[in-house]
Amino acid sequence: MNGDISRRGVLGVGLGASVGLAGAALLGRRVLAQQDTPAATGSGPAAAKPCKRVVRLAHITDTHIQPELRVPEGVASCLTHIREKKFADALAAGGAGAASDKVDLILHGGDVIFDAMDVGEARTKEQWGLYQKVLADNWSGPIYHAVGNHDCWGLNKKVSGTTGDEELWGKRWAMQELKIKPAANVDTKAFGAYYSFDQNGWHIVVLDSVQVEPGGYFGGIDDAQFDWLKGDLLLNKMYPTLLVSHISLFTATVLDRALNDKRERVVHPALMCIDYGRLKKLFLENPQVKVALSGHMHLKDRVDYCGVSYFCNGAVCGGWWKGPHKECDAGYAVVDLFDDGTFENRYVGYGWKAGA
Ligand SMILES: [Fe+2]
Repeated sequence: MNGDISRRGVLGVGLGASVGLAGAALLGRRVLAQQDTPAATGSGPAAAKPCKRVVRLAHITDTHIQPELRVPEGVASCLTHIREKKFADALAAGGAGAASDKVDLILHGGDVIFDAMDVGEARTKEQWGLYQKVLADNWSGPIYHAVGNHDCWGLNKKVSGTTGDEELWGKRWAMQELKIKPAANVDTKAFGAYYSFDQNGWHIVVLDSVQVEPGGYFGGIDDAQFDWLKGDLLLNKMYPTLLVSHISLFTATVLDRALNDKRERVVHPALMCIDYGRLKKLFLENPQVKVALSGHMHLKDRVDYCGVSYFCNGAVCGGWWKGPHKECDAGYAVVDLFDDGTFENRYVGYGWKAGA
């Protein structure tokens, strides 16, 4: 659970302890093969060592829980699908081995509740209560959350009736519910829902991509968080790394809206992180960053760009529980991570029928 998340900041990791794994993970299969050369083993010609899956996780995002539209039943059915490994058939159809293995953890990409931005305290409380109940009833394994824009209470002060001075205003209510410790030296009203942890040879970073501004939010990584990320990647350079954020760091799905729906000439700042430029540079300096997962768009895509594979992984709610959103059905992704830094990301429907 989130209680033992480590936020290393600039302190504390035993770099030396992991260097052996480090080299292999960073440099990939060729290095693993070299470790098995005749000189090393004293037998036979060199043979590539097959990579081994070390982590299987479910990336769920945009559950948008509310009492209406049978949503609690829908979220429960998604968690049951994961818990009972009902994804096995879909994965096997794709030719993957060990399709029926369980997931080790869930990463929730945010927009956990339907909406707290535009509603008052009672409605926000009701939605969090529903989520906690559905989660407790249907999942007992590890789960880590990112905060989504709809999880932030009262950002639209006029409509929600908030002043901004409430103790749980903004991200703080969500962070309390999701047991995310605020980052040090950061105003937790606006920022601070980021952390990282290690999972069987991979480093996993949960980013806070929702930046609060008067009247709303935009997608981005604030300066304090960017500095923390820089330090965290440096300290964990030996591990292949997966990032997860609510708002995409980079995605082609925004183009569908900009060039299709809206005929806009710029990317709307609420749809994708505005500081991708400096993130790209950081990732080029840290080639161990392999994968970045996101939600927010309720659409699916994969973009391989400058060494990182970006997956926008649809939405558990599809089109806000009223059916698919465009070409994207309600679903979640099963993500397999291998010991040589490779990965597989597969989107799986869980059979939800809106209105049925
Ligand atoms: Fe959403």
